[in-house]
Amino acid sequence: MSKLLNGNEISLGTCYYPEHWDKSLWREDLERMQKVGIKTIRIAEFAWSKVEPTEGSFTYEFFDEFLDIADEMNMRVIMGTPTATPPAWLTSKYPDALNARKDGTLFRHGMRRHYNYNSENYKRLSSIIVEKFAKHYGKRKCVIGWQIDNEINCEIAEFYSESDDMAFNQFLQDKYKTLDALNDAWGTVFWNQTYTEWEQVHIPRTTVQGTVNPHQTLDYYRFISDSACKWVRMQADIIRKYKKEEDFVTTNGIFGHVDYRRMRDESLDFITYDSYPNFAYILDGYDKDDSSFRDRKWSRNLTETRAISPIFGIMEQQSGANGWNTGMAAPTPRPGQITLWTMQSIAHGADFISYFRWRTAIFGTEMYWHGILDYSGRDNRRLKEISDIYDKLGKISEVAGSTYVAKVAVLKDYDNIFDSELDVWHENVEEKSQDAIFKAAQRSHTPIDYVYLTESITEKDLLKYELLIYPHMTMVNESFLPILEEYVQDGGKLVIGCRSGYKDMEGKCTMDYLPGKLKSLTGNDIPEYTAISPDAGDVYIKWGKDEFKASSFADQLFACTSTAKVVGSYEDDYYEGFGAITENKLGNGYVYYYGSAFSEEAAFVFLKNLGVIDPFNEYFDIPDEMELAVREKNGDKYAFVLNYQRKVQNMWLKKELKELLSGSIETEEVIMQSYEVKIFKL
Ligand code: GAL
Repeated sequence: MSKLLNGNEISLGTCYYPEHWDKSLWREDLERMQKVGIKTIRIAEFAWSKVEPTEGSFTYEFFDEFLDIADEMNMRVIMGTPTATPPAWLTSKYPDALNARKDGTLFRHGMRRHYNYNSENYKRLSSIIVEKFAKHYGKRKCVIGWQIDNEINCEIAEFYSESDDMAFNQFLQDKYKTLDALNDAWGTVFWNQTYTEWEQVHIPRTTVQGTVNPHQTLDYYRFISDSACKWVRMQADIIRKYKKEEDFVTTNGIFGHVDYRRMRDESLDFITYDSYPNFAYILDGYDKDDSSFRDRKWSRNLTETRAISPIFGIMEQQSGANGWNTGMAAPTPRPGQITLWTMQSIAHGADFISYFRWRTAIFGTEMYWHGILDYSGRDNRRLKEISDIYDKLGKISEVAGSTYVAKVAVLKDYDNIFDSELDVWHENVEEKSQDAIFKAAQRSHTPIDYVYLTESITEKDLLKYELLIYPHMTMVNESFLPILEEYVQDGGKLVIGCRSGYKDMEGKCTMDYLPGKLKSLTGNDIPEYTAISPDAGDVYIKWGKDEFKASSFADQLFACTSTAKVVGSYEDDYYEGFGAITENKLGNGYVYYYGSAFSEEAAFVFLKNLGVIDPFNEYFDIPDEMELAVREKNGDKYAFVLNYQRKVQNMWLKKELKELLSGSIETEEVIMQSYEVKIFKL
């Protein structure tokens, strides 16, 4: 059984860089970690040259010496593969390994992630180093798992090298087989882009105003995801040949242009996330408006992580001030904030929390990116806080292995995500709606999940939820429709927002009456639509007794089957009186089509009117500035209440409940200190 995420404990770790410190510090550092409850370290993810200082010459002594100490001290080690930072000897001899800007300029040595996934040389040399790592270090007692690369697609999620250009061409030949099919899919007759030889087909390149054929760009994003997934798969396959059976394979972080569901299914035991809520306090990017949610917004990223692995780890949890010497400066977490952010991660399903990093680097780009200890390494307040966190985890060990509870899910799929990244009409509504739904759910204490529609999803996966919201299913993958219909027929409620159903999977607009292939679900017709004009003022929608503002867009709706009816209408501009919300009864359930993007008020009204809001209100009355998150195991529920504010606030319990951290029974008015977290057993 894996030593992490096995349902027995919530454990602590830290990121350690033996190559940054004098060897005389190693043993003492591990001893000090163990004293505060840190049992796991991640190492080596940027240390290629320590093992292969020049091409083909391998030397294992450095990490052997370190791992001997780790073995002796029963420390658990997650080994990173070092491919995010290719050595200087490699990039100077094999410049084809480098990534490039869109204009072809190569990214040079000095930063990280300056490589590409498609260079044959880089693939060859990376598989050799991964094999050497896995074969040499994989059987060590202390090694418990592997992190592949570091933060796939972080820093840069676009690739324009020659190697990528050639690989993209091949990707398209495999996909389309003939140029006729490609020309058709990309609509190349528009602006005379027709291709007559495969050699003419390239990755998006520098164009006038940077504008590229949208269908080509969509395929390009899919290609980047395909390349990233294959890259991770290549490494996972090698590691799996050598690792001990119980050891896991993961990678860290979530970034753009990657289908993480595919990556997980093909290569990973689980995903780990890197959580830096202090980004909310970046000096030049701080949002004074309290409604911006600041560090609480990281709960959205954690929800995203949970959609990939219901129980996951945090490979890097913020433990100090942020800062590269080139930017991202943010203050030190205040007393209590490391605990708050740790509990935020746990509340969403993390059973392993590893702090970035043990000691703060005294040199290099990240010398202001503080870890637990400052430069001197002396004991400090943050170390004490982590030691206290360890004590707290001992009191909530029964929470390990439980999963987050939600009755509402927001549906997503990667094709639509990629489309929203390249299409401004789609991006505009998608960003607004996702932000609004998340905030309305948070403020109303309505836990939500994200669910990715994939070929393998079943009706059972969906029937866990009373309500599904697909904010903007712009592109319709027809293979998902039967399962959505079954879900509704069997009593589910499905809400679909504006701009849905108008594109096919190539990103071309349909000539069908809108909402195109969704019509049999929605039972409506959309003869007209418009972006809400900037001079329209506030456009209101009335739904029964509720009135709220439309946002960004107005699809004008008619019901067109006997089971469908208009339940909400616009109250302003030239479409006053036209349908804004339709309801279609299908079997035992309902499909709602909402003609606009979601504002927070709109999302709130949907949650309320569809009967899913605040499902734990029999227990709690919590101010909307606090988060409620609930995990469940074997019928026991654990409710986390998190106070993100500096101020002391009160909440109310409607029943007597045991609070696990204090061990006491609490009832009625409960005082929440600044940044305090309480965990009640329901
Ligand atoms: C993460 C990364 C770490 C470190 C940290 C602070 O994104 O994985 O290696 O760079 O941020 O910048």
